[in-house]
Amino acid sequence: MSSLSRCISIALAIVLTAVAAAGSAVAQPQKPSKDDKLIADAMELSKRFETAFNSRNADAAAACYWNDPRVTLIAPDGTVAVGMDAVRGLYTGFFSAAESLKLETIDGAYVAHGDVVQWSGRVRVTEKMKGAAERTYNLRASDWRRKIGGTWVFVYDSVTVEPAPAGAKSLYQKLGGYDAIAAVIDEFIKRMDGDPKMKRFLGGLSQDSAGRLRQHIVDQVCAAAGGPCIYTGRDMKTSHKGMGISEDDWNTAAGHLVASLDKFNVPVTEKNDLLAIVSSVKGDIVEKK
Ligand code: HEM
Repeated sequence: MSSLSRCISIALAIVLTAVAAAGSAVAQPQKPSKDDKLIADAMELSKRFETAFNSRNADAAAACYWNDPRVTLIAPDGTVAVGMDAVRGLYTGFFSAAESLKLETIDGAYVAHGDVVQWSGRVRVTEKMKGAAERTYNLRASDWRRKIGGTWVFVYDSVTVEPAPAGAKSLYQKLGGYDAIAAVIDEFIKRMDGDPKMKRFLGGLSQDSAGRLRQHIVDQVCAAAGGPCIYTGRDMKTSHKGMGISEDDWNTAAGHLVASLDKFNVPVTEKNDLLAIVSSVKGDIVEKK
């Protein structure tokens, strides 16, 4: 046999072996491994936790954790909770400050290590905290879970806020920063004040009270847009309760805000993002349909 024909027959043999191997793989579907079964079982915990989180049930969320002094939860703000009381306390505090919460899984992967299953991935949280505008952010999480006493529980859970992609601008930056926001709010207040229909709300305020109100609104919008401001005022329900603000008043105020944004040529995307922040507190401000 010439060396060329020997090469061809070796190549053919390799191809035929590969085809045969592929064929047998198709003919015999792979049985789920022990790890696959464990992982499918461990997924139940993610669903249980999501239900507890979305219904703001601290006991149900704590029940997703190992009831042991060694259980560890690292919260997105860096708080390290060790032991069941600390874990439950963290959820109790967070849930009681929230009006609504929604957790959704973006992506992730499970890996089995013996009888421990690790999940690492990303989740999206949409939260409406009392007195604050609704916001959505992504978290990166990594947990270790085990079936203990017949129930899957987190033995270790670490959550961090996903950093914004490099170069991504916050709404605060896109709006043009503090001075641009302050200019829009000053224009908004001027328009509200100049509207005979809205004058009943702001008309009686002293200069000092009007100045404080202006600063509170600037700080609140700046903070909600991701700026370096801290809102120290009251929550929206408390500060507007009893004013009898109607749906119609709200629409008039929204019109003044849109006109103020337009005056400063705020682009449509940023305008809609800001209006979405403001609209998220509507339910706390409007009292009459
Ligand atoms: C129809 C719409 C609205 C009317 C008539 C209205 C009216 C008022 C008035 C009269 C006050 C003064 C309360 C006081 O000093 O005791 C106030 C407070 C406040 N409002 Fe509004 N408001 C409206 C919508 C909004 C919106 C959309 C926001 C947020 C973007 C907002 C944010 C605030 C803030 C931050 C305070 C100060 C809270 C504090 O003093 O601790 N308001 N509002």
